[in-house]
Amino acid sequence: MGVVKLGVTLVALLLALHLTDAQMESPLKGQGVPRLETTAVFVSAYLDRLLDVNEDNYRWEAVVYFYIAWTDFSAFDTMQAQSEQVLTNSSFKCDFYCSNVLEQALCCSNIYLPSFFFKNAYGFPQDREIMYPADDGSMLWEVRVHGIYYQPMDFSHFPFDSFDLALELRLYDPTILISTDWLWGANHTGVTVVPSSGGKKIYTIGRGDDASSWAVTDYSLETYSVDMGSWFSQYSDLNSDPYDPMPLAPVNANQTGGYVDESGNLLNVFNGVTDQHLAILITVERFWKPSLINAVLPVVLVFTLGLMTFFTSESSLDTRLEIVVTLFLALTAVQFVVIGQIPTSSYVVPTQQLVLTTYIFLFLLAIESIAKRKEAWRRYCKLRDQGKLEGGQNPTLASAASAPQAKLDLEQQEANSSGIGGEEKGLRSVTTLGQMTADEAFGQYIEHMVDNLSAVFLAVGYSVTAILIFTLQSGYIDLFPVA
Ligand SMILES: *[C@@H]1O[C@H](CO)[C@@H](O)[C@H](O)[C@H]1NC(C)=O
Ligand SMILES: *[C@@H]1O[C@H](CO)[C@@H](O)[C@H](O)[C@H]1NC(C)=O
Ligand SMILES: *[C@@H]1O[C@H](CO)[C@@H](O)[C@H](O)[C@H]1NC(C)=O
Repeated sequence: MGVVKLGVTLVALLLALHLTDAQMESPLKGQGVPRLETTAVFVSAYLDRLLDVNEDNYRWEAVVYFYIAWTDFSAFDTMQAQSEQVLTNSSFKCDFYCSNVLEQALCCSNIYLPSFFFKNAYGFPQDREIMYPADDGSMLWEVRVHGIYYQPMDFSHFPFDSFDLALELRLYDPTILISTDWLWGANHTGVTVVPSSGGKKIYTIGRGDDASSWAVTDYSLETYSVDMGSWFSQYSDLNSDPYDPMPLAPVNANQTGGYVDESGNLLNVFNGVTDQHLAILITVERFWKPSLINAVLPVVLVFTLGLMTFFTSESSLDTRLEIVVTLFLALTAVQFVVIGQIPTSSYVVPTQQLVLTTYIFLFLLAIESIAKRKEAWRRYCKLRDQGKLEGGQNPTLASAASAPQAKLDLEQQEANSSGIGGEEKGLRSVTTLGQMTADEAFGQYIEHMVDNLSAVFLAVGYSVTAILIFTLQSGYIDLFPVA
């Protein structure tokens, strides 16, 4: 076939051409009725470049090269004859040029071109097409489609997420509408779509990332057929008017002429019509490293700093609360960064879950510090009632309030008793080492252990939660299980 040689020349021309205006018509809009030998349409699709994944609008933009092949024994001769006329006969008018790359070269009037509709196209900034016919009846139609597509997206595994971008094509088979009996002398068996080759990359050269935030990791072409009527039986929220002559969601058997399926459900006008789809699934994976540094690392640091409060003096409630409040403010700032990175969704993404866990951690930290103070107060009251405090006297409210501060460690107590800093610490220290009872020593020991246990419990609890958040919610999400 001379197709390959022709192809090389035309691709060079194609690259040199300027862009056209935006258009919404399907770049794979076909024409005509397929010949009897045209029973299958082979679609190859190559992703040239993923241009953008718009997470705010749930849209993505890409340039895809479609190579659609089929068999048509008469097409080559028809095209050749017409193309000769175009070049030699000034009164001949071609209705349809099969290339917008080469003007007035190839005339495709009166030949069959398969027709596809882009189901989820938001818009087509531009497209280019060209036909490569071969004299053995093989036809190859190249269309470069630059389009923007919409679809549902799921970021519930952010920032370790991966899912498919789907480009859904729907074949229009004219033999469903037109009987070919009178046209070609026989009834057409119908045209089927067959996925052929494809790839993550074509014509684009150079190294580097595919698109901002996303890498293309996998690529597949899949076909699926559904009964067209099932779209309407499944998704009709409202029923058709009883007088609608073409009811999509019929209300009674009168409207459908008495047609029902096996289970007695009313059939709508599209039941029995096969809807052939070709889905191009482009698996993308987020670059998680920047999000890890921007959103996860600061939160983990807040947690680590929070743990450090356990290394401050066990009894200094003020210091601890100060640290907790500071960390809370830092966490709020981190939360705003996380919010700015992903769209508002119906679920809480893992990074937000981690922020939430950290809030709870800080809260428990504050509770632990305050609960210990309460416990110290309770013990103080008990000691006071038992008359075990200094000189057995009832202390003033001021010294009672400072009672929790009294639980200094042994060395400090020693320092106090030996007179070093005794003056300054005198008010805070209710007992001296010599006066410390077994009760008090035990109380301090308990307090120390409670602190240690809380530290271990909170650290382990937080770590396990964080690990579970990111291991249970990471990786690929299948957005299109049907396709
Ligand atoms: C030129 O084209 C006209 C219109 O299609 C046609 O009637 C005529 O026969 C053609 N002339 C030749 C020499 O093919
Ligand atoms: C084509 O189908 C129609 C109706 O289904 C039938 O009447 C006709 O005989 C068929 N033609 C051929 C050539 O089989
Ligand atoms: C169906 O049509 C018949 C005859 O036109 C009519 O008598 C009957 O009431 C209709 N049934 C309903 C449910 O509309």
